[in-house]
Amino acid sequence: MREKKWWQEEVVYQIYPKSFCDGNGDGIGDLRGIISKLDYLKGLGITMLWICPCYQSPMDDNGYDISDYKQIAAEFGSMEDMDELIKKAKEYGIKIILDLVINHTSDEHRWFKKAVSEPESKYHDYYIFKDGAKEPNNWRSVFGGSVWEKIPDKDEYYFHAFGKKQPDLNWENRELREELYKMVNWWLDKGIAGFRIDAITFIKKDLTWSDREPDGADGLAKCTKASRNQKGIGTFLNELKENTFDRYDCVTVAEAPGVSYDELDEFIGDNGYFSMIFDFRYADLDIASGSEWFKRISWTIKDFNKKIMESQMALQKYGWGANFIENHDQPRAATKYLKENQNNPDAVKTLAAMYFFLRGTPFIYQGQELGMVNFDRKDIGEFNDISSIDQYYRSIDEGLSEKEALKVINLRSRDNSRTPFPWNNEKYGGFSKCEPWLAMTEEYPDINAEKQMSQKESIYSFYKDMISFRQNGAYRDCLIYGDIEHVESSENVIAYKRYTDDISIQCWFNFSSETVTEKIGREEIEVVWENMQEVEFKNGYLILKPFQTVLFR
Ligand code: NOJ
Ligand code: CA
Repeated sequence: MREKKWWQEEVVYQIYPKSFCDGNGDGIGDLRGIISKLDYLKGLGITMLWICPCYQSPMDDNGYDISDYKQIAAEFGSMEDMDELIKKAKEYGIKIILDLVINHTSDEHRWFKKAVSEPESKYHDYYIFKDGAKEPNNWRSVFGGSVWEKIPDKDEYYFHAFGKKQPDLNWENRELREELYKMVNWWLDKGIAGFRIDAITFIKKDLTWSDREPDGADGLAKCTKASRNQKGIGTFLNELKENTFDRYDCVTVAEAPGVSYDELDEFIGDNGYFSMIFDFRYADLDIASGSEWFKRISWTIKDFNKKIMESQMALQKYGWGANFIENHDQPRAATKYLKENQNNPDAVKTLAAMYFFLRGTPFIYQGQELGMVNFDRKDIGEFNDISSIDQYYRSIDEGLSEKEALKVINLRSRDNSRTPFPWNNEKYGGFSKCEPWLAMTEEYPDINAEKQMSQKESIYSFYKDMISFRQNGAYRDCLIYGDIEHVESSENVIAYKRYTDDISIQCWFNFSSETVTEKIGREEIEVVWENMQEVEFKNGYLILKPFQTVLFR
């Protein structure tokens, strides 16, 4: 066991502000809505919130396209609301981390507008421009099409790894970097606990800008091969940390795709760039690559088990991880991992407990605590997310029929998790008094917070108990700080052990709809946690009912 850190004890809840709670009745979630739900969050046992971008933005990518880092988006409220939220949350004992998006800005950011309108100004070098009559290379952006967008009436292009309204910042420019550090410190001075850091491995590009081997029907090549986690990135990340995070006792959770397990020491080791990172390997187990949803692959519980354990072992070797099964870029976990069992509460609870008791800080995405499921859309016109729309047309270019394309997009769309939060069974689910910006899920009259809060056996109540058990139970030290080790199990069961010098807790999760018998090799066990009424243990065998979870010492 390493030195303990305060952020290892947190239970984080991720809020997608547009969809959490509408405080002023315009159909869009906002900061006053979040303030009004602090009671709910406290009741659930949450200790820290991650709030997705709420800065001024044209909302082309729902806030991941920032036009002013120091203003709050008008639809979300004002800076006074933000200050009040930070203050009130503190009174509730809830910390706040914000989303830090510093790989790119919006094309409506003052810097970019100046860069285009005054090419001689210093702002031109804040972004990446190339002269020429055609795109400088064949790289494909994450949201489709070339990474290069033409400046009207000029033989000049700018680079964007994501959408075309998200020009990448030129991290090679020292003055730009210093402006960013000042902005980061300005927010930390406001009393936030830290940041979730967006797409941070994209800040360094291959500066030769050379073509890559095409890998799609569009003749382009994924830009991630040349604009993610490139050599030399460490210099920027160390500088960022030294000028900002290191000066505060803050937490940093990096979205760092493209980092291999043997590079984790640099990222999250004792002198790493960040406190922890998200590992997407098991979240993306159903697709061949994180950004191409049409390349689907089949998987089994055994594969899931293997991926989770590999991830845990790598994170444990060097540092600490941020565990999650859902976020605003992923489909609902119940649908993705449980498939036809998505509506079985026992299955949802087993999935929840399996990831929640892993070693690391658990992240819960809004609505996950209710076991929300995917939204099946019937037409591409029903989608809002830019990525879903791009992937639909790319799937068709790659040879899928419209029907097949709609099917894969429905399985993977980021809109699945962006539907408004169902607070109750009223019209618009208590989310808003008027029609929300994105349709509610069909299930909300049944799957909603009010109903589940009144039921002892609900998924909500299970989450609440589970959080309290990790945070305040007799085995808190072991469940938070203990090491993890894989335990052999049969093919539809995942098992691991959490342990300290003093205690060892085995955690068993049956992911099949059949009863499974597991040889434990012990005469007795002391059950400390389970999701059903009783646990059967006979002659050294643990008999797991369908979707049963058992923790024992
Ligand atoms: C990752 C964010 O999670 C996602 O929502 C966003 O679209 C991209 N980064 C670009 O900022
Ligand atoms: Ca609103």
